[in-house]
Amino acid sequence: MGEVIAGVGVSHIPALGAAMEVGQEGPAGTVFATFEPVREWVERLDLDTLIVIYNDHASAFSLELYPTFAIGAAASYAPADEGYGARDVPDCEGDVDLSWHLIDSVIPEGFDLAICQQLDVDHGFTVPLTVLYGRPQEWPVRVVPIAVNVVQQPTPSAQRCFDLGRAIGRAIASFPENRRVGVVGTGGMSHQLQGQRAGHINQDFDHRFLAGIADNPASLTSLSNRDYIREAGSEGAELVMWLVMRGAMSETVKVAYSGYHVPVSNTGAGVIALESLLAQ
Ligand code: DHB
Ligand code: FE
Repeated sequence: MGEVIAGVGVSHIPALGAAMEVGQEGPAGTVFATFEPVREWVERLDLDTLIVIYNDHASAFSLELYPTFAIGAAASYAPADEGYGARDVPDCEGDVDLSWHLIDSVIPEGFDLAICQQLDVDHGFTVPLTVLYGRPQEWPVRVVPIAVNVVQQPTPSAQRCFDLGRAIGRAIASFPENRRVGVVGTGGMSHQLQGQRAGHINQDFDHRFLAGIADNPASLTSLSNRDYIREAGSEGAELVMWLVMRGAMSETVKVAYSGYHVPVSNTGAGVIALESLLAQ
């Protein structure tokens, strides 16, 4: 049986991935130290597969073709060339059987994901792997990518993202083989990279989000996409992907770790590590 062991919400800041890629670490008080505890934690969990909920930043998709939700069903995923060469990280091995089980489960439930048997994954996907696992020769887990459109308006609502997560959680529980699954929601926290509010960071909102996601996700799913853009910035709206992750987990969860750091790049950099508590 598949089991959701853990969930992670984590920013996917390219500059942080680049710094970690060349081995930069740092003492207490730095952004590196903020993320470091998650590595030990995730290693202890000994996961088989990560389902990574991420957004493509017009790398594999373009404004000519933007699926609202998409799922990978490939044997491997290469890092995307985002215009300056692909990141120097290993390809990711796909968990093809779990991909098709998710497809066969969630589409009949009404979540019409586009099926991708070829998919390059950009920093939205690969930077969180670097944050979680550092610089291995091979990634120690297999993966299932699930892409959410947060680029081309209108984007799916926070509630819809959470409901997709619930369907993913049910699908994992009905998988006939044993799998220790982690679900990762990437992106955020608050940031806006464009327009008049470029540079917008809202630390109060980010802290409210970190506090709410474990024990009160309804306080976050009730927000509209306008609320997300107003509070967290146009790219801070990536946070809805953390709600897919939260939806896939048990109703009650334990917060194993949470961290937040400003300033780094243009973004409120955050991470939360959650463990499932099965209903008693
Ligand atoms: C940054 C953050 C993002 O989420 C992204 O996709 C690109 C850049 C940043 O903080 O620089
Ligand atoms: Fe992003």
